[in-house]
Amino acid sequence: MAETRKFPHHLIREIFEQPDALRRTIAPRVSQAEGRVRLDQIHISREELRALRRINIVASGTSRHAGMTGQYMLQELAGVPVDVDYASEFKYRNPMIGRGELSIFITQSGETADTTASQREARQKGSRTIAISNVEGSTIAREADGFIYTDAGPEISIASTKAFTAQMACLFLFALYLGEIKEKVPKALAQHYIRELLALPEKTETILAASDKVEKLAELYYRVDDFMFLGRAIHYPIAMDGALKLKEVSYIHAEGYPTGEAKHGPNAMIDFRLPLVLIATCDRNNNDAGSVARYQQSVSNMEGFKKQGATLIALATEGDTVVPQLANHTIFIPAVPELLSPILEIVPLQLFAYYVAAKRGLDVDHPRNLVKAVTLE
Ligand code: F6R
Repeated sequence: MAETRKFPHHLIREIFEQPDALRRTIAPRVSQAEGRVRLDQIHISREELRALRRINIVASGTSRHAGMTGQYMLQELAGVPVDVDYASEFKYRNPMIGRGELSIFITQSGETADTTASQREARQKGSRTIAISNVEGSTIAREADGFIYTDAGPEISIASTKAFTAQMACLFLFALYLGEIKEKVPKALAQHYIRELLALPEKTETILAASDKVEKLAELYYRVDDFMFLGRAIHYPIAMDGALKLKEVSYIHAEGYPTGEAKHGPNAMIDFRLPLVLIATCDRNNNDAGSVARYQQSVSNMEGFKKQGATLIALATEGDTVVPQLANHTIFIPAVPELLSPILEIVPLQLFAYYVAAKRGLDVDHPRNLVKAVTLE
C-alpha cells in the first residue's frame, strides 16, 4: 500500500507502512499449524523462563506505552506479574530486582541513554534481560541476554509509529512464547491468537483505507488547543500514545487519562470546549466477558460526558450501533481480540495527529526541540 503511493512526509508514509512492518515482524515467527511462536534470539533457557517470578519492563515515551500494553499481554497469557517503569526514573527508585526475574527493555533506536543505563543496572543486579529494538546491533541489543527485533524498517520521522505497532506485536509474540513455556496457553488458544496476529496487517489496511474520514475530522478540529484522550485497561496506553502523538507533532495540549479516573478530577474541565477522544472498542467476535464489561462501563461514562455537554470522538468496533449514537464522531476499527486491539486502535490516532499537524502547517517530521534518539541521560 505504501510502496505504490507518494507521500508528502515521512510520518504519513511510515503510518502507511505499518501493514508491511507487521507482516515482516509476525509471519516468520509463527506456525499456525503447531500453535507455536519461534524466537531465535532469546538466549535464556526454557527452565529459567518457566521459573520466572516477575518481569520488569523499562522504556521511554512511546516505547513505554508499548510496554504498558505488554503488561496486560504478559500477565494474561503467561501469568507472571509485570511492572512497567519510565527508563528516566528507573535508577531513582532503587529497583528491587534480581535473580529469578526478567527485565525487558524496549527502544526503537536501541540507543536511548536512560534505557541502556537501566539495562546495565538490571544486569548488575542479577536480572536476565531481553531487548526489543528496531536496530540490530544497537547498544541495547548487544548487551542483552535476548533480543527481539522489530522488523519495521528505518523510522525517519521523529514521532514513532510503525516501530510502536511492531513493538506491541513483539510483546504479544513473547507473551505467547512464555505462555506456552509456562503451560498457560493451550495449543488451540495459541492457534487462535496466531490466526488473529496474521490477520492484523489486513485489518490495518482497512483502517488506512478510511484515512480520508480521519482527515475530515482533523479539518474540523485542527484549531482546537486542548484535547483529552481516554481509555481503560489495555486501551489506556493507547489513549496516552494518541495524546503524545498529538502533543509532539501538533504542539496541542493533550492529556491521556484512564477513563475511570475522569471523575477523580479531570471531569471538572470537561465541557463542549474540551473534545474527548474516547476508546470504546469491544471484543465482539470472542464474546469475551471482561471486554464486554469494560465496554459497557465506557458506554456508561460516555453517557455521563454527554450530559456534561462534552464533544465526543469515539473509537468503536465495526458493527457497533450504540457508541455512534452517543458520540459526535465515530471512527471504526475491525473486530479483534482485546489483547491485540491496541495495535489497531493507535493507527487512526496517529493519522489524526498527522493531519492536524499538517493542517497547522507544521514540520511534522521534525517537531521542535526533539531528536530521534535521546542519547544523553
Ligand atoms: C514519541 C517518540 C518518543 C520515543 C522515545 C523513546 O513519538 O518517538 O517518545 O518513543 O524517545 O525512544 P526509543 O524508543 O528510541 O528509546
